[in-house]
Amino acid sequence: MNPPRRLAPRVSNDVPLNERTTLHIGGRARWFVEAHSLRDVADACQWAGESGLPLRVLGGGSNLLVDDGLIDAVVLSLAGMKRVQIFGHSAMAQCGAALSHVILTCASNGLAGPEGLAGIPGTLGGALAMNAGGRYAEIADFVDRVVWIDPDGELCQLYREEIKFGYRTSSLRDGVVVEAILRTDAGNPTELKERYREIMREKLRVQPYSVFSAGCSFKNPKGLSAGRLIDLAGCKGLRVGGAQVSDRHGNFIVNTGDANARDMMALLTTIEERVQSMHDIKLEREVQIWPGVRAA
Ligand code: EPU
Repeated sequence: MNPPRRLAPRVSNDVPLNERTTLHIGGRARWFVEAHSLRDVADACQWAGESGLPLRVLGGGSNLLVDDGLIDAVVLSLAGMKRVQIFGHSAMAQCGAALSHVILTCASNGLAGPEGLAGIPGTLGGALAMNAGGRYAEIADFVDRVVWIDPDGELCQLYREEIKFGYRTSSLRDGVVVEAILRTDAGNPTELKERYREIMREKLRVQPYSVFSAGCSFKNPKGLSAGRLIDLAGCKGLRVGGAQVSDRHGNFIVNTGDANARDMMALLTTIEERVQSMHDIKLEREVQIWPGVRAA
């Protein structure tokens, strides 16, 4: 059960996860691995497999609801792997890099397109796994190839056409994406940075940014906006314990300070029930939930 000797310097035990998520909610990880190299990632995958514990990859913690109690898993962070390099019209980035850093580096170097992802929090790895995106772009649009550790622990290079990207999901979620090469059109750096700022301004206007949240909690049903459906169902401002539906945007649930995962889940369920009864639509959760072991 103890970590293998080579990985041990990267491993901590009983690590609080609340400060590592944008909701600031969650219990403690039994094991926490801070990878600094591809070899660390591969060792962590192998160790989790051999010890029979689930492997949970932590990106920026921005689309994540970690349960209260013990997360009985090997939690793997790539925060120590964040190099971004530009080659012509391509960017090579490690998956622990903040998405905002990747897209601003692209914009500054005249790589056009990724600036459409402005305002999306989290890391490149999380963005790839979830196919992060919004009105102007999704990360899949720019993927040329990735370095990935498959569910059997094998290291592979996958080209764009070998990856399945869907709406806020991808086949990369089955393994661990370590590095990506993004390829884009050419653009003017000044214009791209201005476009980035423009999208940021718009997001700051309509979305709650300065509070603890996990972004949109639900996927948009085809052709509709979950936020609008939740708003029309009268849920804005609705509260369970310290969790509250944002007054600004119905699809954001915020931690007003002392929310726990139980409050969040109760509120998610209430919203689902209200939207179902008012619109006859079953919302699908976008926020990822890590189950915990709660004290009896
Ligand atoms: N609306 C309301 N009430 C609300 C919220 C929205 O009436 O409480 C209306 C808006 O006025 C607008 C429409 O619904 O007419 C759509 O709203 P918005 O422009 O905010 O876009 P969205 O569909 O709710 C999506 C993504 C966001 C992304 C924005 C902008 C999903 C689930 N959401 O939101 O992504 O930032 O477009 O690109 O795909 C996320 O994934 O975490 C996320 C926040």
